[in-house]
Amino acid sequence: MEPVAVWWATLADVRPAHEALLDSVERGRRERYLRDADRDRFTLGAAITRIAVGTALGISPEHVRIDRACDDCGKPHGRPVIDGGPHVSVSHSGDRVGVAISAHGPVGLDVEEAGRANESIAGHLLAPAEKADAAAAGMSPDALLAYWTRKEAALKATGDGLRVGLTRLSMSAPADPPRLVGWEGRPDLPGRMAMRRLEPGPGYGACLAMIDHPAAVDVTEAPAYFLRGPAGRP
Ligand SMILES: CC(C)(COP(=O)(O)OP(=O)(O)OC[C@H]1O[C@@H](n2cnc3c(N)ncnc32)[C@H](O)[C@@H]1OP(=O)(O)O)[C@@H](O)C(=O)NCCC(=O)NCCS
Repeated sequence: MEPVAVWWATLADVRPAHEALLDSVERGRRERYLRDADRDRFTLGAAITRIAVGTALGISPEHVRIDRACDDCGKPHGRPVIDGGPHVSVSHSGDRVGVAISAHGPVGLDVEEAGRANESIAGHLLAPAEKADAAAAGMSPDALLAYWTRKEAALKATGDGLRVGLTRLSMSAPADPPRLVGWEGRPDLPGRMAMRRLEPGPGYGACLAMIDHPAAVDVTEAPAYFLRGPAGRP
């Protein structure tokens, strides 16, 4: 069975050759970023997506067609969709960029810098039962980071993103393996969604959500080694 792959990069991996892989829509987005780091995060996400999908489909990265239309406004900042598959999800935070790719069904990836998870986010992050646990036992920054990455990964797998409030989702306790326990208004989803805790490196937390995947599917995680070649190719 084809594994689900998660490829990780850091900002130091970006090369001029990666920009050359982007299509005109992506270059337009790239050019609108004012800060170098934002530009590089976007470029790396798009380049990894193109190389990984191109390899899976046996075509060159430049020829991969990616629909990025936002469901709300049509602008090309939405979830990346490859007509006919595979499914992909992109996430970036701080120095880290990740791309998940699956032949089995929709995936959602979220990586967050640990320092950003503090009590100020608890109000719009935690469901009522989770808040009660937090009030009773206290909640560490690591626990908040676990809830945050689990919920955003789940919302990215469905494609809802933050249009759906994070407090409508309930997750397993942070010390337990990640699992969607409940989703207000979507009782079908807990039985259809599998989740994995990922290892993006020190100072970061990450989670992967997979919808309608085979129960025994393998998830592999590795540095996106193929970015480091002179032409940015595998
Ligand atoms: C998707 C979303 C949760 C990402 O949050 P984040 O933690 O800030 O960012 P991440 O780095 O984890 O993810 C960004 C990536 O998510 C992807 N993405 C965007 N919208 C998405 C969606 N609805 N579902 C899944 N993935 C989405 C893109 O690939 C994006 O990468 P890119 O900027 O390089 O193209 C957030 O942007 C969102 O909710 N967007 C949709 C709602 C919205 O903003 N609508 C108004 C626009 S008109």
